[in-house]
Amino acid sequence: MSLILGIETSCDETAAAVLDERLNVRSSIVESSIELHRDFGGVVPELAGRAHVDVIGSVVERALTTAGLSVTEPGLAAVAVTSGPGLVGSLLVGLSAAKAYALVWDVPLVGVNHLEGHLFAPLLEHPDLAWPVLSLLVSGGHSLLVLCEGPGRFRVLGETIDDAAGEAYDKVARYLGLGYPGGPVIDRLAGAGTPGALSLPVSMQGPGLDLSFSGLKSALVRAAAAHPEVALADVAASFQAAVVEQLTRKLRAALASHEVAGVALAGGVAANSALRASVADLAEEFALACHLPSLAMCTDNAAMIAAAGWYRLGAYGPSGLDLSAEPNGVLA
Ligand code: KG4
Ligand code: ZN
Repeated sequence: MSLILGIETSCDETAAAVLDERLNVRSSIVESSIELHRDFGGVVPELAGRAHVDVIGSVVERALTTAGLSVTEPGLAAVAVTSGPGLVGSLLVGLSAAKAYALVWDVPLVGVNHLEGHLFAPLLEHPDLAWPVLSLLVSGGHSLLVLCEGPGRFRVLGETIDDAAGEAYDKVARYLGLGYPGGPVIDRLAGAGTPGALSLPVSMQGPGLDLSFSGLKSALVRAAAAHPEVALADVAASFQAAVVEQLTRKLRAALASHEVAGVALAGGVAANSALRASVADLAEEFALACHLPSLAMCTDNAAMIAAAGWYRLGAYGPSGLDLSAEPNGVLA
């Protein structure tokens, strides 16, 4: 069976994966440089780029050997790589490596949009899923509501007009002195708190499907300063409830105006326990299939890039070796 190698280096994860053409994951290796960034409260581009350079060779080698392939002659059908969006220095490491492998092995190269990769993640765990699917893609860099009519066929219905959902989690965590990344720690703390303890607005940005998180972040800072007696767990629970409420209301509005067979979550914030529970309830209410990715498939990985790579290769053919990094690449 034909195999494709996927490479992902858009942010702080160096990842490589081997997939067959039926999208079975033969291997998926992810190395994160997150420990290097913790003290800075966010990903430091220079450090992330250098970390990719240090480990890209060994990560690809492990992906090949775990899939039972020879490192020198793996016999692949293609190499897929994230070309953007992301940190330019990080993207360039993956792109340069992918081009070198494609040249040496004499196989086609295919560039993949990172966000399109996230949209393929549910397909890896639910290969028989019925289309169309409404996907909520929420990560540290992006927050979008996307109508997916089939693999690679999508329409952006709404997106954040300011911060991404994960970015809001990270900024609020930094303000509360909870370290980086903020999502997992706020999620954990919120489980022990009372959601209504701090009164916070649910940003709606009118009746459309766009999202916004920066006003909520500022409101939280003001409310927490005005009410120092409110316990940290209650602050976390109030913030999380406001984020999940906004996302749920927007999903509900999108479901009311678009006929779909299922709803899916993608991106790092898809790991959030309250969001997962709320989306599962919503799917039940609308009698839809609910595709909640495993935690490993929520965060950045190369299996989703390889899956999108198969689709791109079939639909549009290979990319040239002059494929460039698109740090601000959009979903199109
Ligand atoms: O998709 P991802 O790994 O990287 C990007 O492409 O951005 O997402 C990372 C983001 C971070 O902002 C992190 O705080 C957030 O996902 N995150 C969470 C949770 N786990 C990770 N946010 C809320 N709740 C979580 N459990
Ligand atoms: Zn991502």
